[in-house]
Amino acid sequence: MRFFSFFSSLGLMAVVVIGNQLHTEKITLREQASFPVGVAVSPKRIAQSEYAKVVGQEFSSLTAENVMKPQYIWTSERNYDFSKGDSLVAFAQARQQQVHGHTLVWHLMQPDWLKNTIESYDSATLENLLRDYIQTVVKHYRGKVVSWDVVNEAVASNGDGMRESVYLQKLGDDYVARCHQYARQSDPDVLLFYNDYSIASNPKKLNTILEMVDDFQARGIPLDGIGMQMHVGLDLSLDDYQKALDEISQRGLKIHLSEVDIKVNSNGKQTTLTPELAESQRELMSEIVRRYNQLPEENKFAITFWGLRDNESWLTNHTGFPQWPLLFDHDFQRKSMYQGFLDGLETAQTTVDK
Ligand code: XIL
Repeated sequence: MRFFSFFSSLGLMAVVVIGNQLHTEKITLREQASFPVGVAVSPKRIAQSEYAKVVGQEFSSLTAENVMKPQYIWTSERNYDFSKGDSLVAFAQARQQQVHGHTLVWHLMQPDWLKNTIESYDSATLENLLRDYIQTVVKHYRGKVVSWDVVNEAVASNGDGMRESVYLQKLGDDYVARCHQYARQSDPDVLLFYNDYSIASNPKKLNTILEMVDDFQARGIPLDGIGMQMHVGLDLSLDDYQKALDEISQRGLKIHLSEVDIKVNSNGKQTTLTPELAESQRELMSEIVRRYNQLPEENKFAITFWGLRDNESWLTNHTGFPQWPLLFDHDFQRKSMYQGFLDGLETAQTTVDK
């Protein structure tokens, strides 16, 4: 009797475990989520077959990590190079993926010729150049991208008012609104986002952005959503994050978690991703997704990861240390953080079902 129950429970476990494994193998992010799941890519990386396979299977949305920025497209005052962005769009179309455009206007990653001349332009010249750039690029990608980050990171780093960029200095403090109008004139359907970092972690920055949103809405300036970059660490306050989701969604805007990565090595002392850190990262990932997934459908635009594998994350350069911030490891294996993403979807579903 004892033997029987021992073996029968072993058998059951095996069935469950095998069942689970088979099931887990089949699941991909794009199949599981009810909203688009995206990844930032470069043309070089998606040219590798293993890379292309994983990106195609797992993701339903792509953002160009760099090649649709002015540095790549804007070759001289009125010349544009769309070749790299176009190759990315073709890749996405072949895999039924949507493309998010990033980004039309940014104080960083300007082409060299513009860095050299921008100070010498008077306001009207710069405004005309920028308008032509925005309108040409938006027209080129009309029907090919679903959305654009119009202006990236226009608010001061610490959230205290607008960033003192050359655009603000030359074009005045209403330039962001005019950039949105120029984009809208060139494509009546594309979704227009304002994109920035620390929205979920700095309440002051959230407030400054909400003031801008309220002003845009009062004046009828076209704005469809907010991109919350979500370059976060394990110390992210879930209350602050929740507040940002609530405040933005209450204004009827779509929310794009547009550049997600989770740093686990803030002091640079880690030499490997320990099981404890992987577990903390998994938990935070699941909470981020769970709270996002609970938003009303119309407010969910997409969650986009800022890269596929840990070893190619921009954060290694940016912070000076490896951060293991993404869903996949060097060997394209799913990390605990990947499971955290799936867990975040499940919890919300269970809540709804009950
Ligand atoms: C980063 C890219 O990942 C790097 O490859 C590049 O060298 C610098 O830009 N906020 C943004 C992104 O909006 O465009 C940045 O991307 C990361 C921070």
